[in-house]
Amino acid sequence: MGLELIVMTSLVLLWMAQTTSARLNVSLAKAGCQALCGNISIPYPFGIGANCYINDMYSMECRSDKLYLTGIKLEVLNMSVERWPIWVQVNNPILSQSCPGGNGSADVVHGSTSVNLTGSPFTFSSSLNVFISVGCNNHARVTNLVDGTTAQCITICDGSPDRDNGCFGINCCQTTPPGNFSYDLRVFNVNLSRIETYNQSGGVPAPLIPCMYAFLVDKDWFRYNLTDPFALRGMDHVPAKLRWNLYNMESSQLGIPKYRGGYCGKVWYRSSSDIYGAYCSCSPGYEGNPYLPYGCRGTYILGSSLLYFKVHL
Ligand SMILES: *[C@@H]1O[C@H](CO)[C@@H](O)[C@H](O)[C@H]1NC(C)=O
Ligand SMILES: *[C@@H]1O[C@H](CO)[C@@H](O)[C@H](O)[C@H]1NC(C)=O
Ligand SMILES: *[C@@H]1O[C@H](CO)[C@@H](O)[C@H](O)[C@H]1NC(C)=O
Ligand SMILES: *[C@@H]1O[C@H](CO)[C@@H](O)[C@H](O)[C@H]1NC(C)=O
Ligand SMILES: *[C@@H]1O[C@H](CO)[C@@H](O)[C@H](O)[C@H]1NC(C)=O
Ligand SMILES: *[C@@H]1O[C@H](CO)[C@@H](O)[C@H](O)[C@H]1NC(C)=O
Ligand SMILES: *[C@@H]1O[C@H](CO)[C@@H](O)[C@H](O)[C@H]1NC(C)=O
Ligand SMILES: *[C@@H]1O[C@H](CO)[C@@H](O)[C@H](O)[C@H]1NC(C)=O
Ligand SMILES: *[C@@H]1O[C@H](CO)[C@@H](O)[C@H](O)[C@H]1NC(C)=O
Repeated sequence: MGLELIVMTSLVLLWMAQTTSARLNVSLAKAGCQALCGNISIPYPFGIGANCYINDMYSMECRSDKLYLTGIKLEVLNMSVERWPIWVQVNNPILSQSCPGGNGSADVVHGSTSVNLTGSPFTFSSSLNVFISVGCNNHARVTNLVDGTTAQCITICDGSPDRDNGCFGINCCQTTPPGNFSYDLRVFNVNLSRIETYNQSGGVPAPLIPCMYAFLVDKDWFRYNLTDPFALRGMDHVPAKLRWNLYNMESSQLGIPKYRGGYCGKVWYRSSSDIYGAYCSCSPGYEGNPYLPYGCRGTYILGSSLLYFKVHL
């Protein structure tokens, strides 16, 4: 009994050692290519330098330990390649209007049109992001410029800003981004206007917060990492998640002769039956990068130790 327990413990330790090293130190890049930028891992089909990415749309640059997607010129904060749904988390500009002082920092987009992802493998995910407007008496309307679908929300001005609100209307409102199939939101327009309000003497009160903000933001980040929407006043970007796939490619173009621990699939876009994409995924119990030969590594030692555990108790 005592001996069996020792064997079991060492198997569990073996498993932990294996997954720890896989998470921390196994390169997800193509062999011979730069694997890290700062502390962000660069997974193939993305890469830095010719022959390191699958085509120009997946080309990246590393400047001062910050990672950028060359084609859409956005900073990348995190990436998912291991299994569906796959995404890149980017630093997405905040759209603003009526801000006093004008310019803010050089990166602030004072305008109404989003980053244009047309022709790229990237789309704004309607399920992983939420559309938010912050400000006083805003009427925010977001229009998908590809199919004309819209979504909107309204903020109500509150004199003593509730700084811990859940963004359900008081100085902050939220709505699901337009588009019923997330693959199609590639460029959108935001119309920010004031809803008319009158004070007791019939005048139009000056807004408590002059600036109107609107942005598409990572749902989880907004929920867990931005507890105070007013913190936005010092920010010009927020994290958002873009879905991606092997745009207009077949998975066979990866040149992987035989899949082990993973598989590939194909998706079609709603906007056109001619446009498709491919994606790959590691199977349950495997982890790593399914876009590389032998990229999915088994974590089966856990399975056998659990089995052992069961048999002997
Ligand atoms: C990760 O791998 C690199 C080279 O492959 C090595 O130099 C480095 O020491 C490793 N880091 C850890 C924490 O094992
Ligand atoms: C990288 O390091 C920075 C600073 O230490 C940290 O804020 C960030 O979350 C890290 N990113 C990743 C992907 O680990
Ligand atoms: C990156 O994404 C993974 C989920 O895929 C998450 O576990 C991790 O915390 C993220 N890192 C940062 C710095 O947000
Ligand atoms: C805003 O930027 C423009 C051009 O970049 C500059 O001419 C102008 O002085 C700036 N205004 C303020 C208020 O900083
Ligand atoms: C987005 O980019 C595409 C292709 O570059 C262009 O045809 C389209 O007009 C752009 N849309 C907007 C709203 O800028
Ligand atoms: C999706 O949107 C299209 C047009 O944008 C519409 O014709 C279709 O009915 C919508 N489908 C669903 C399930 O809402
Ligand atoms: C924005 O919305 C307002 C109010 O609905 C409307 O009057 C205005 O014309 C719209 N602006 C644009 C550029 O569509
Ligand atoms: C109502 O608004 C007008 C115009 O902005 C302003 O002069 C007046 O002081 C306001 N009255 C109250 C009670 O806020
Ligand atoms: C969000 O917060 C969690 C924990 O507070 C942290 O692990 C994660 O890295 C944060 N994500 C970002 C994108 O800052």
